Amino acid sequence: MKRILLTGALGQIGSELTTTLQHKYGVDNVIATDIRYSDGAFGEDARFETLDIMDGNRLNELVKNNNVDTIIHLAAMLSANAEHHPQRAWEINMTGLMNSLEVAREHDCKFFTPSSIGAFGPSTIKQSTPQITVQRPTSMYGVSKVASELLCDYYYTKYGLDTRGLRFPGLISYLTPPGGGTTDYAVDIYYKAVEEGSYTSFLSAGTYLDMMYMPDAIQATVDLLEADPSRLKNRNAYNVTAMSIEPEMIAAEIKKHIPDFTLSYDVDPVRQGIADSWPDAIDPTAAKEEFGFSPLYDLEKMTKDMLEKVQK
Ligand SMILES: NC(=O)c1ccc[n+]([C@@H]2O[C@H](COP(=O)([O-])OP(=O)(O)OC[C@H]3O[C@@H](n4cnc5c(N)ncnc54)[C@H](O)[C@@H]3O)[C@@H](O)[C@H]2O)c1
Repeated sequence: MKRILLTGALGQIGSELTTTLQHKYGVDNVIATDIRYSDGAFGEDARFETLDIMDGNRLNELVKNNNVDTIIHLAAMLSANAEHHPQRAWEINMTGLMNSLEVAREHDCKFFTPSSIGAFGPSTIKQSTPQITVQRPTSMYGVSKVASELLCDYYYTKYGLDTRGLRFPGLISYLTPPGGGTTDYAVDIYYKAVEEGSYTSFLSAGTYLDMMYMPDAIQATVDLLEADPSRLKNRNAYNVTAMSIEPEMIAAEIKKHIPDFTLSYDVDPVRQGIADSWPDAIDPTAAKEEFGFSPLYDLEKMTKDMLEKVQK
């Protein structure tokens, strides 16, 4: 990886991944793009271009003119938003991916795009969900993620394109607000705990979902991108997770730091329905074996760090 272009770089993942890549590969070698303006988000010297991922020609020009050899495609519509705008979600998630894959093919770029636990559905086994299993999601987000995994496999087998991906769980971070996903409560709860001492959850008590702290997600992405290709059997996409948790567990952990914290519930049927269709705990064994995935943060360590960072 010498010259990397990211799409959707101003989002929850991109805003932290871009900075990590700038440190690792040099500011000049990272071209961050997004449909929105950056407003200096990545520093004065950063290379930033506005790009609507629906415009494949502009992406092609940016990749060609900057000698890009790696594309990290993050621009997408997330689960809860996609359920409110399913047709638009399909358009952005699939045409955006197709445009990026085609440009990667033309310029022989390494390619990374995230999948999600949303690629599983209610008929998938809920505990220790295997790497390869039934994938019949019932949300538009999930449908687009399964199609994305398959399309990336297709470009690898048909064209030899070096495609790689991770099935991310809910990601928890403090730098940029999450972008309309089903697991967003697990970020909001920390902000509300610090600001108001209480939180009203849109998912019910006992809703177990996989989660991971952003530093582990960023490390997993870099590790997969740098992994020896001969070790990668499950390229698109690896199950990765650090914890299987539900709202009461986070609340109990927050109470260790903010004893008066209270949690109540006002369940959103759309997001609850999506969450209920997803696994409780996926099995990341393939990621461990094939590229050394090893998350550092559990719920206790993450909660301590989140509260410190949010308080700051
Ligand atoms: N954050 C999570 O918890 C999570 C979990 C699983 C998978 N993922 C996947 O990771 C990827 C990135 O997620 P995120 O959380 O950073 O999302 P986000 O919603 O925070 O950010 C997406 C970014 O894409 C940009 N964007 C939207 N439409 C665009 C377009 N037409 N052209 C260019 N840019 C556009 C937005 O401006 C935004 O900055 C997505 O594929 C998502 O499905 C995220």
